[in-house]
Amino acid sequence: MNNFELYNPTNYIFGKGQMEKLGNLIPKNAKILLAYGGGSIFKNGIYESVMQNLKGFDVTEFGGIEPNPHFETLEKAIAIVKEKKIDFLLAVGGGSVIDGVKFISGATNYKGNPLEILQKRLLIKENAVPFGTVLTLPATGSEMNSGAVVTIAATQEKLSFGGSALFPQFSICDPTVIESLPKRQIQNGIVDAFTHVMEQYLTYPHDAYLQDRIAEGILTTLIEIGPKVVEHPTDYALASNYMWCCTMALNGLLNKGVPTDWATHMIGHELTALYGIDHARTLAIIGPHLYTVLFETKKEKLTQYGKRIFHLSGSDDEIAKEAINKTVEFFHLMGIDTKLSQYTDDYAKAATFIAARFKERGWNALGERQNLTVEKVKHIVEMSY
Ligand code: NZQ
Ligand code: ZN
Repeated sequence: MNNFELYNPTNYIFGKGQMEKLGNLIPKNAKILLAYGGGSIFKNGIYESVMQNLKGFDVTEFGGIEPNPHFETLEKAIAIVKEKKIDFLLAVGGGSVIDGVKFISGATNYKGNPLEILQKRLLIKENAVPFGTVLTLPATGSEMNSGAVVTIAATQEKLSFGGSALFPQFSICDPTVIESLPKRQIQNGIVDAFTHVMEQYLTYPHDAYLQDRIAEGILTTLIEIGPKVVEHPTDYALASNYMWCCTMALNGLLNKGVPTDWATHMIGHELTALYGIDHARTLAIIGPHLYTVLFETKKEKLTQYGKRIFHLSGSDDEIAKEAINKTVEFFHLMGIDTKLSQYTDDYAKAATFIAARFKERGWNALGERQNLTVEKVKHIVEMSY
């Protein structure tokens, strides 16, 4: 196992009715910015429940953080935080609102141009404005990690950043919030979490046996509950396992001591930036082709995945290939289309465009073995048409 440090200061508060703890989690006399998205929190009662528990606090509201949050929108929030001397941020939403708040948190006290945080992928280790979250959409794991993704609308770039100062101080995670989620978002959440595990699992054999078994446990659980929770979002057992799987898939536990990939996400982000396709759906479009193009170097892990998750038999090559088919089958069962042309008619430019961007950024050798060249990226995107 590789050496590692495990640091996660987030107070993760899980279960029904946990919102009543909210007022005690925020410092007394704090001036709060309550950040939210397009307004779903007003329709499902979450806003009311938050406000009931923030009685006595000085709260400024900032809405309109869009899915795949825009730098341009977050700049406005930063101006308000500075003007009103806000000293605590509360994200109430899914990954987009939480990521948006992470950017506000890191950028408010940043001395230079906040765009640099994204363009230079700066690590935010200090001077962040403290923040907590109320999770309304299980998917990204952002509620218990220190990473985030923000889009610069002006240049259509979707860029990730993070740092040890960007863990939420607390996250209130009540599985009943999924009752108001559109099916599409539950489908997205399951497939996003599934792919988070794959990015940290489907690499090459190593001796961190426990991480493999935890990863396989999450994959198996997601396969078991995924299709059911879409149909029965009020089933608490399904909802709670869905939420916990999503957090566990990306709270920094799986990647300890093991190689990781993340190239599916890097390519997927470009598809969202170009076409506005939901994050999880871009992963379902790209992942299986990436596994195919990198078949030789991922084969051993694909075989392990095929045997342990899908109980396949045959030669290693047969199992590894069939494991990719089974993955696509699962995405389809989750109601997710896996071809780019099913999302846009303008798909033909994607491969050349993305390859050029990766080249420009010097992303010539991605993946756990650094063997994913720009040419291979182009090929993967072409295969996804
Ligand atoms: O904006 P509102 O009106 O709240 O509606 C949202 C939004 O339209 C809606 N929604 C959320 N909770 C709801 C609800 N509707 C009804 N009832 C509820 N309880 O769902 C829509 C999508 O929300 P969004 O936050 O965009 O979804 P998700 O949580 O999937 O987040 C996606 C973003 O997270 C990034 C993605 O790239 C994308 O920008 N990611 C962040 C990661 C991280 N920080 O670790 C890792 C991921 O790989 C991912 O890249
Ligand atoms: Zn993701």
